[in-house]
Amino acid sequence: MARISKKANSSGDTMDVAVSEFMQQIKESEKEGEIKSSPIIQADVPAVTKPDSSSPASIPSSVKEIRLPSPLPKRISLPIKKVNQLPSSTSTPAKVVKSSLSSLFGSGKVALITGASSGLGLEFAKLLAQKGYHLVLVARNEQKLKDLKSDLEVAYPIKAHIIVKDLAQPRSPQEIYDELSSQHIIPELLINNAGFGSFGEFYTLNWVVESAMIQVNVVALCQLTHLFLPDLIKQKRGKILNVASLAGFQPGPLMATYYATKSYVLSFSQSLSNELRGTGVSVTVLCPGPTATEFARNANLENVSKLFKRKPMSAEVVVKTGYTALMNGKTIAIPGFSNRLLIFLERFIPRKMQTQIVRNMQEKVSS
Ligand SMILES: NC(=O)c1ccc[n+]([C@@H]2O[C@H](COP(=O)([O-])OP(=O)(O)OC[C@H]3O[C@@H](n4cnc5c(N)ncnc54)[C@H](OP(=O)(O)O)[C@@H]3O)[C@@H](O)[C@H]2O)c1
Repeated sequence: MARISKKANSSGDTMDVAVSEFMQQIKESEKEGEIKSSPIIQADVPAVTKPDSSSPASIPSSVKEIRLPSPLPKRISLPIKKVNQLPSSTSTPAKVVKSSLSSLFGSGKVALITGASSGLGLEFAKLLAQKGYHLVLVARNEQKLKDLKSDLEVAYPIKAHIIVKDLAQPRSPQEIYDELSSQHIIPELLINNAGFGSFGEFYTLNWVVESAMIQVNVVALCQLTHLFLPDLIKQKRGKILNVASLAGFQPGPLMATYYATKSYVLSFSQSLSNELRGTGVSVTVLCPGPTATEFARNANLENVSKLFKRKPMSAEVVVKTGYTALMNGKTIAIPGFSNRLLIFLERFIPRKMQTQIVRNMQEKVSS
C-alpha cells in the first residue's frame, strides 16, 4: 500500500489532493482502528432531486427537500463551424416530424440519449451530432430540448427529434420504444444517462422521491435496454452506454439509495457486457466522479459538498472518455487518473471501512 502511495504521489499534476487524503485516511485508520477524518471515495452530486413542473405526478410540490426547477438554460454555444447548414426544424410542425421520422433520418445513424436537456446528456448530444449521428433527445424539460435540437440542427448536418417524457413514470420507456419502433427507428447508440440523487438519512427522505430515483436511475434504464436489445441483436449492431458513477463501487451512507442505484447500473452493465459477447452489440458503463453539470450548479453543491470544492471534472472530458470507451467496446470507463487510482486502491480496503470513509465524507458535507 505504501509503495502504491509513493508511486501515485510521484505522478505530479495528475494526482490530486483526494488521493493523498485517502492514503492518510487509511494510515490513520490502520493506526487507530477507526476512521476520523474526511476521505476520498468520491460520490457524485449529493442531495438533488429533480423537480419539474411538467411532472407533478412523480415529484409533488409538497416534497420539501426537492429543489426548485432550474431556470431555463442559456442556449448552448456550439463553437463548431456550420457544416452543410440545414434549415432549422423548429419551424416544422411537430406532427409532420413525428410521422416521418424514418424519412427525416434517412439511412443515417441514430443515437437515443436520455437526460439530454443538461449536463452529461447535453454534452453527449453535442458530441454525437458532431460525429454525424441523428438524435432522439429525451428529458422532461421541453424548452431545453427544443433549444438543443434547434442549435444542433443549425450547427451540424443532422436532425434531432425530441421526446418529452418523465422517466419516473413506469409507462415512459415503453412509450419511447413504441414511438420509435412504429416508425422503424432502431437507434444504433442508446445512451442511458438520465438520473438524479438525494441526500440525507434514508428514513428522513421522501419516499416519493426515493422511489422516483429508483425508477429513473434503475428501472427506466433497465427497461429501455430490454426493449431495444432484441432489435440491436437482430441487426447484429449497436452500442449501449449506461451512466453509473464512482458511487457504484461502494455503499454510500447519507446517499444510500443513490449509491445503490449506481451499484445496480454497474453490476447490470458488466453482466450484460459479458452476455452479449459475439452478438455485435456492446454495453459500456461510464463511472464519473464529481462533474460540473447543470445539475451541480443548480444545486449549489459548492456550499454543501466538499466534493465540489475541488474542481470537478468537466462534462466535456467525461463524455469524451465515455464516447471513446463506447466506440472501443470497453466495458467500464472511469474518467480521470485519480478516480481510476481510487477505485483500484479501494480493492485493498475492507467493505466496512469503505462505507465508513464515505460516511465521514458525507457527514462533513452536511455539517
Ligand atoms: N454530475 C456528477 O457529478 C455525476 C457524477 C457521476 C454520475 N453522474 C450521473 O450522470 C447522469 C447525468 O447527470 P448530470 O450530472 O448530467 O446531471 P444533470 O445536469 O442534472 O442532468 C440530469 C439529466 O437527467 C434528466 N432527468 C432527471 N430526472 C428525469 C426524469 N424523471 N425523466 C427524464 N429525465 C430526467 C434531466 O432532464 P430533465 O430535468 O429535463 O428531465 C437532465 O437532462 C446521471 O445519471 C447522474 O447520476 C453525475
